[in-house]
Amino acid sequence: MVKRATEEQIEQIINQYPGTKSVICYGDNTFTLVYTDNKNVIAFLSAFFKKIPAPLNDETECFINVIDIFDFNYRNKGIGSLLVQEAIKIAKEEKAIQVRAYCDINNKPSHMLWLKNNFGISPVKMPDGSIAGSFITYRI
Ligand SMILES: CC(C)(COP(=O)(O)OP(=O)(O)OC[C@H]1O[C@@H](n2cnc3c(N)ncnc32)[C@H](O)[C@@H]1OP(=O)(O)O)[C@@H](O)C(=O)NCCC(=O)NCCS
Repeated sequence: MVKRATEEQIEQIINQYPGTKSVICYGDNTFTLVYTDNKNVIAFLSAFFKKIPAPLNDETECFINVIDIFDFNYRNKGIGSLLVQEAIKIAKEEKAIQVRAYCDINNKPSHMLWLKNNFGISPVKMPDGSIAGSFITYRI
């Protein structure tokens, strides 16, 4: 079941996976979702809202900073898509015009998740011509 994370759940995630501390979004204009079985957090998604810079006037986007299904045994079962769809729903409610994220070139499962959920994929070319990863965008 996908729900907004409680403070206790966020603490639980950080305690169990300390690396998540730097990517979880805190405070105003952010939200964190969790997928839980009866008592454990299986997966989470954390996102923030931000203004899109000029030349647009006052438009907002939702940026998914992190999504992680912790246990490999729970991957490829649709949990990531449930989290992404709930994030899109929240972004719509908040009148954001798009949902974005970034994924590394070596992360095929992540690219497949975004593709499956109708995100466009924009590869990012580095000055040396290599592709580092992709920004992905869902237009609401
Ligand atoms: C990326 C991630 C969040 C996806 O979550 P998930 O719950 O597995 O996603 P879903 O099951 O909704 O969809 C994944 C899709 O990718 C497909 N997929 C996964 N790995 C694949 C691969 N190597 N090649 C082809 N397709 C692949 C799955 O088959 C599935 O598609 P399907 O339902 O049509 O079969 C999960 O793999 C994860 O937590 N990875 C580690 C953290 C991470 O990389 N986060 C993303 C950073 S941008």
